[in-house]
Amino acid sequence: MNIFFNSNNMEFHLQNDKISYIIKVLGTGDLGHLYFGKRLNHRENFSNMLQIFEHQVPYTPEQIDGVSGFALDTLKQEFPAFGTGDYREPAYVILQENGSRVTDYKFSKYEIFNRKPSLKGLPQTYLENDDEAKTLQITLKDKHLNSEIILSYTIYKNYPIITRNSNIINNGSSPLTLERFLSFNMDIPQKNYELMHLSGAWARERHVVTTPINQNRISIDSKRGASSSNNNPFIALKEIGADEFKGEYIGVNLVYSGNFLAQVEKDHYDNIRINMGINPFNFSWILEKDETFEAPEVVMCYSDSGLNTLSQNYHKFYQNNLIRGEWKHKARPILINNWEATYFDFDEDKIVQIAIKAKELGVELFVLDDGWFGTRNGDTSGLGDWWSNLSKLPSGVEGLSKKIDEMGMKFGLWFEPEMVNPDTDLYRQHPEWALSIPNRKPTLSRNQLTLDLGRAEVRDYLYEKLSKILRESKISYIKWDMNRNMTDVWSGVLEGKRQGETAHRYILGVYDLMERLTTEFPHILFESCAGGGNRFDAGMLYYMPQIWTSDDTDAVERLKIQYGTSIIYPISSMGAHVSAVPNHQTGRITSIDTRANVAFFGAFGYELDLNHITDDEANSVKRQIEFFKENRELLQFGTFHRIESPFENGFQNVSWIMVNKDQSEAILGVYRIHSIPNPSFDKAFAAGLNPDFKYKIEHEDILGEIFYGDELMYSGIKFRKIGIDTHDSKNLEKLGDYSSKIIKITKI
Ligand code: GLA
Repeated sequence: MNIFFNSNNMEFHLQNDKISYIIKVLGTGDLGHLYFGKRLNHRENFSNMLQIFEHQVPYTPEQIDGVSGFALDTLKQEFPAFGTGDYREPAYVILQENGSRVTDYKFSKYEIFNRKPSLKGLPQTYLENDDEAKTLQITLKDKHLNSEIILSYTIYKNYPIITRNSNIINNGSSPLTLERFLSFNMDIPQKNYELMHLSGAWARERHVVTTPINQNRISIDSKRGASSSNNNPFIALKEIGADEFKGEYIGVNLVYSGNFLAQVEKDHYDNIRINMGINPFNFSWILEKDETFEAPEVVMCYSDSGLNTLSQNYHKFYQNNLIRGEWKHKARPILINNWEATYFDFDEDKIVQIAIKAKELGVELFVLDDGWFGTRNGDTSGLGDWWSNLSKLPSGVEGLSKKIDEMGMKFGLWFEPEMVNPDTDLYRQHPEWALSIPNRKPTLSRNQLTLDLGRAEVRDYLYEKLSKILRESKISYIKWDMNRNMTDVWSGVLEGKRQGETAHRYILGVYDLMERLTTEFPHILFESCAGGGNRFDAGMLYYMPQIWTSDDTDAVERLKIQYGTSIIYPISSMGAHVSAVPNHQTGRITSIDTRANVAFFGAFGYELDLNHITDDEANSVKRQIEFFKENRELLQFGTFHRIESPFENGFQNVSWIMVNKDQSEAILGVYRIHSIPNPSFDKAFAAGLNPDFKYKIEHEDILGEIFYGDELMYSGIKFRKIGIDTHDSKNLEKLGDYSSKIIKITKI
């Protein structure tokens, strides 16, 4: 890994074994983008890569007097401005006292060093050792405003990854209003790309969507106050024809949990501009003298060998350089959560009965979900009153947690700190703490309002309440929920002209509270949640190593959700539970085995009353737990390869495989959605194995036992029985709709 600077032609080349990124300071002092992609040998001069027209381009302002063709509007840039001739979407817009939005930030200096500077109050990737990465910081200065923009680029030794962010400092005497200040921009030369992003809604989060890129602008964003279930803060440019195993991908993921904007714009000269950052919609930020504003970080990843490679790099990078704390590399306990088992209708006895049965079958952690506090007997009241409901739990959370602990199980607890029901003591005392506009009726969602976590006293109050419970009870796990999106975005502690800061200050407040609690309670395993996946992002993973992937626990729907989520986020970060049938979100019936076969690829657990399953199913659960305990290191921390996608071929078959580091063990999951009568031959394919290793498979449904890796990957695995035999009722479930197989592959 190296960062070269050619002073003769003012070029920076960031290079490691896999990638190169080349920037050039243009004659105007603007930053030009020359290249991002597969590693290039270093040369002293890459100026040939600069695409400047030799002729005057009509209707495009020229920036250097007398030089025809040098027009910002047609040039590829790193951090484009508004107002001096580039008519595409800018990276920033700064309103000045005189009403102008035209600025003049030009190259002023650079620095190269062996570490990664940290961001204040924001989640971010970090280094274990300074020699893992090098950073280039380029300072642009607007002399009239006496203000600087600092662009940081960090390149890593071991990953095809560059992290970027941008800061702005106001050293001038008048305030500057940031109307838009994105984290990054990159202009890519003409290439045959399409756009991939992860889209959805509650209970069907992160479905893979691919869109052609034409001469227009595509915006992927959230204005919901959270990164959202609707659009994940991730986009990828995908070479047309690329797939899981081949072709080029450029991924960009924002390390942020609030409103974001990602844009892809193909200009009229076929350049593609991509940029991403805090959503400028309903955002503004006043920067007084000597203040700095830091934009969140983006993680850019490159692959020239398919989407799996891109994902595997994101997974490893996030597991090593984003997720923190004791649980970072630790296999997660198998849990049981009472939400779908009881909803709000429980008492201590019912909870203990669920826990006893779960313990008997091998579960390690009991999680008490919503409904244990205040007057919370439904979702209309109680939220915010963080003390035990003694009519449900006579000895409180304290007593219950001790009981569970004495049974030899760990105890976990649900909180939703950021919210309040109007029907609570908290709201009656502090209505002004909720986001709402004076004299207007605030809009409810799930009967609740959002507390203004931008206010320090709200954070302090929540910190006191939560930490008291955590200190008094035997708690080893927290599920931190967040169950509505923002409306009435207005803060009682900000003056009128600063209301555009409210949503970002809220997210900074959430981060601050999370930082305090996770620091004070390092042994607790924190799971982030937002009605499932409404805030499944890299920002949250900095504080909490796992996230409840979706409120949809249906095994078949989960194939899509977990497949899409795995495009960026590690398997260890995805909460995945076996729940009851008919499934509570879809009404679908799947076997207990298929439910587990999907949930195994995640932070595994159960979410049903195991007293209500058949003896046969209980035996299966016991076997599932034994299997998971034997294999959880591999299942949570191996290398994940997606094989057959639920988003292609009419959602017929899905398969994926987890392989350990030395390729000596793998677990293949094969799922069939709809069975067809009289089918043709069906095979499954492995991936990620060593072609020359000999492997053993012991599985009653598979023909043969010993194979080389190459055969398993290239010729495939043949099943003994593929069609339904009308006379064989035993096999119906194994071969019918929603059937699945888990195949363990071991080197001999
Ligand atoms: C959200 C969560 C669920 C559950 C409920 C409780 O929807 O995603 O898992 O905790 O809240 O109200």
